[in-house]
Amino acid sequence: MIKKNDILKLEITDVSFAGLGVARYSDKDLENFVIFVHNAIPGDVILCRVVKTEKSFAYGIIEEIIRKSEKRINAPCPTFEKCGGCVFLNMDYGAELEIKRQHVINSYRRNMPVFPDPLPVVPSPETEHYRNKVVCPLSENGKFGFYARASHRNIENSDCFLQDGDFGRFLAAAEGFVKDKSITPYNEVSGKGLFRQLYMRKAKNTGEICVCAVINGKKLPFEKEFAELMKKTGAASVYINENTTRGNTVLGEKYRLIYGKERITDILCGVKFEISPAAFYQINSRQTENLYKYAINLAEIDPDDTVLDLYCGIGTLSLLAAKAGAKKVFGIEIVKEAICDAKRNAEINGIENAEFFAADAAETPKILEKCGGKPNTVIVDPPRKGLGTETVDAIARLSPEKIVYISCNSETQARDIVLLSQFGYTFNTIRPFDMFPRTQHVETVVLMTRTGTEKG
Ligand SMILES: C[S@@+](CC[C@H](N)C(=O)[O-])C[C@H]1O[C@@H](n2cnc3c(N)ncnc32)[C@H](O)[C@@H]1O
Repeated sequence: MIKKNDILKLEITDVSFAGLGVARYSDKDLENFVIFVHNAIPGDVILCRVVKTEKSFAYGIIEEIIRKSEKRINAPCPTFEKCGGCVFLNMDYGAELEIKRQHVINSYRRNMPVFPDPLPVVPSPETEHYRNKVVCPLSENGKFGFYARASHRNIENSDCFLQDGDFGRFLAAAEGFVKDKSITPYNEVSGKGLFRQLYMRKAKNTGEICVCAVINGKKLPFEKEFAELMKKTGAASVYINENTTRGNTVLGEKYRLIYGKERITDILCGVKFEISPAAFYQINSRQTENLYKYAINLAEIDPDDTVLDLYCGIGTLSLLAAKAGAKKVFGIEIVKEAICDAKRNAEINGIENAEFFAADAAETPKILEKCGGKPNTVIVDPPRKGLGTETVDAIARLSPEKIVYISCNSETQARDIVLLSQFGYTFNTIRPFDMFPRTQHVETVVLMTRTGTEKG
């Protein structure tokens, strides 16, 4: 039996959904026993130290690399081995894309016996410094960083390889402020201390930056000086976010503007978008433009079309659908601030045929009934948990001709596609996009068309 601290010689043959190297170990007692190894990649032959055992699998770490995989590269970040942000930073980018495509295949295979072979993953135009948003926790030592893998231990690093190049400046300035003013870092275990995280978002196409101090209280001491410092560092907008909860929710519900603009402005696919700090905004702006163009083309919008953009955020896809010539567009989204942004965004772009509602996606039929909306095209872009039965039923009740399904979790997307197929929807193509280089996540876009009749 395998025990903790055993040293095993292993060849890594696969990568798990979470991005861990996978080896299968056999001896006289065991056959193909799965061992997940942190930072190991297919093709590596290693000596592995077992760190945790379960009934049918174990976790290990690399003790020594005996033979390096051809896909291995030197991770250009000193905290890569510990940090929970990247998983593929030690691998050739082409190999990462192939692994992501395989993950999509595996997700679909778990949900349906037959499906189209996914197209190659569209590579991200940028694989470094592409993140336009980060939220960095402050350590006990007064340094910003990121959470360690599967924990809330702080890995100090103000120079993340994925974050926008401007963010390091703000982290350094805020670290200096916290030190000079003797502001206490928040401690998750005791629930004491004030400064929790620094949240930054940059509008990549205009350069505007929003900075937000997340604090365990109502007021940050020397708040005016903080605002002045962030302004001097280049912020267009400075907020305080109040989070006095003990759990691991990062952002609280209350935002208070202490300097500058309420919303920063970005431009995507030629359309202007104002973004509140509470609203969702895609984190890889260059690749988002590729994704949006693809999704709007897939919808083949014509002048008679009524489009529903479900999970619409600040109305990005809604306004692009309107620009593509739809007769009418409806957007539905649960976050009120995002809907407020969406309405403003329609206005500042002179788009008059888009209407937005703050509501749960499952309430769609009720909302559209009230305003007499009958969409023939639905675009959905749900969070990781996907649509689920209730929202699939809600969409099926509208009986649209086309459904463009954008997903950041191919597992729940495949599950939902099976549900939608019971209402007569079929699909031909799966197009993955790499929105999150160096992490295990991958985005997929699918067009479903109504070819059959409703179930029941
Ligand atoms: C992946 S984002 C997509 C947003 C938008 N399509 C975009 O590209 O910016 C998912 C959005 O769904 C919203 N959301 C989450 N749960 C929801 C629900 N139950 N009903 C409606 N919207 C929801 C989130 O607030 C978020 O804005």
